[in-house]
Amino acid sequence: MKSLKLLLVLFLVVLPFAAGAGQTEKKAKTIDELVEMYDSSGCKDCHAEIYTQWEKSHHARPLMGVKGGLMLTPLATKGATAFSPDDPQRATIKNFPCFKCHLPQALISAEDSVAVELAQALVAQDATKVAKLRITCTVCHNARAIIHKRELGEPEKGVLYSSKKDIDAHPDKTFTKVKKSAIMKNAIFCGQCHGLGPNLEFDQPFQCANLYGSYLHSYIPAGGTHTCQECHMKKGDHVIAPNFNDDKQTSELLAQAISLDVQTLGYEWLRKAKDYTPKVVVNTKITTTAGHRIPDG
Ligand code: HEC
Ligand code: HEC
Ligand code: HEC
Ligand code: HEC
Ligand code: HEC
Repeated sequence: MKSLKLLLVLFLVVLPFAAGAGQTEKKAKTIDELVEMYDSSGCKDCHAEIYTQWEKSHHARPLMGVKGGLMLTPLATKGATAFSPDDPQRATIKNFPCFKCHLPQALISAEDSVAVELAQALVAQDATKVAKLRITCTVCHNARAIIHKRELGEPEKGVLYSSKKDIDAHPDKTFTKVKKSAIMKNAIFCGQCHGLGPNLEFDQPFQCANLYGSYLHSYIPAGGTHTCQECHMKKGDHVIAPNFNDDKQTSELLAQAISLDVQTLGYEWLRKAKDYTPKVVVNTKITTTAGHRIPDG
């Protein structure tokens, strides 16, 4: 009897805590747990073409650098940047301000222990581990699909967002609904990560991508009318080129995009009698069809 009472008391004490803990989202302690939380490999079964395109894109390897250069290595190396920790064991999420755009899910769902594991992987140049961290389908179609959070709230669990329409019965096991996002058709969706200018909100400002600033302040005022999606995602293409690991494609795209118009005038200048000096006037005009400066970053 006594032990039953004790059990009851224990229950009463433990239950309210358990309920509370259930409401706060658990964060990932390891890289594998974080990968699991945003895993999109299941989308492949039904959206095979989009999945294959995405796998070729930079969004599928945002911490790998161009051609596997593991560009975050300085962030894990003592003294190499203002953000680098003295010891990878003591790394925290704050040591990687790059997550804002290169891995936004880490800011939402990762404990500092994930930063430690990443710092150690970078020091060890463990490319296989770093490559697991990707801007997956659900990062764009859930975590980054709502920006007006005061009015619209946080992206809902189990819901995907699309640029098109609500779907009440989406056949995926975890994501059973699709809702229309207010921004996925607009440039501002890409602008969340493609940068307005220096990142001034950190205790040490720095600059990476600024292309959205250039789009807003140069292309649009000059009469530009296209969105990023219209130029980069024709027919829903998820390669979202250029792919800098593909030299051939990159130079073909640049050749299409950049035109060089050269006009020349050659003449001889009669400085004084019988003294002709050859002269040339060269007018060059470089134009691009891009909706922003190139190159960026
Ligand atoms: C079992 C198959 C299946 C899986 C798995 C699946 N989808 Fe779908 N998805 C569909 C089908 C079928 C539709 C079209 C439904 C309709 O139009 O009524 C759809 C529609 C969508 C749409 C809206 C498309 C539109 O034209 O409006 C998005 C976005 C989407 N899926 C993303 C995903 C993502 C991201 C994943 C992985 C997390 C995923 N889907 C997993 C079958 C699947
Ligand atoms: C404001 C968002 C943003 C932040 C913050 C940011 N980046 Fe980037 N970064 C991007 C985008 C978007 C690209 C690709 C597009 C471009 O370069 O225009 C990029 C490209 C790069 C590239 C060139 C491509 C490659 O993979 O080699 C490097 C290197 C890079 N970032 C490193 C960093 C590092 C290191 C940090 C943190 C100190 C950081 N970035 C922070 C958005 C950002
Ligand atoms: C970098 C962000 C990003 C990633 C990553 C991404 N998508 Fe998309 N996706 C978009 C945007 C933006 C559109 C809308 C394009 C438009 O309106 O032209 C879209 C469109 C779609 C559509 C058509 C419905 C719609 O909303 O127009 C489907 C289906 C889809 N994505 C599935 C996927 C799947 C599956 C993956 C992973 C393999 C994926 N997406 C990864 C940004 C992304
Ligand atoms: C969640 C943040 C995020 C969103 C949203 C996003 N991007 Fe990116 N994008 C990146 C990062 C980070 C890279 C660079 C990855 C790397 O280092 O290779 C990148 C790379 C690219 C590249 C390859 C060229 C390069 O410089 O690496 C293109 C093109 C691109 N993005 C276009 C878009 C477009 C168009 C949209 C909107 C439909 C979009 N992105 C949405 C973060 C994002
Ligand atoms: C009018 C069409 C157009 C619009 C609008 C446009 N782009 Fe581009 N973009 C291009 C072209 C053309 C290139 C250069 C050719 C190439 O490398 O694909 C390019 C190149 C890029 C690159 C590679 C930059 C580099 O360093 O070489 C990124 C990243 C990119 N665009 C992202 C975006 C984003 C994000 C938006 C919206 C804010 C956007 N683009 C709007 C046409 C456009």
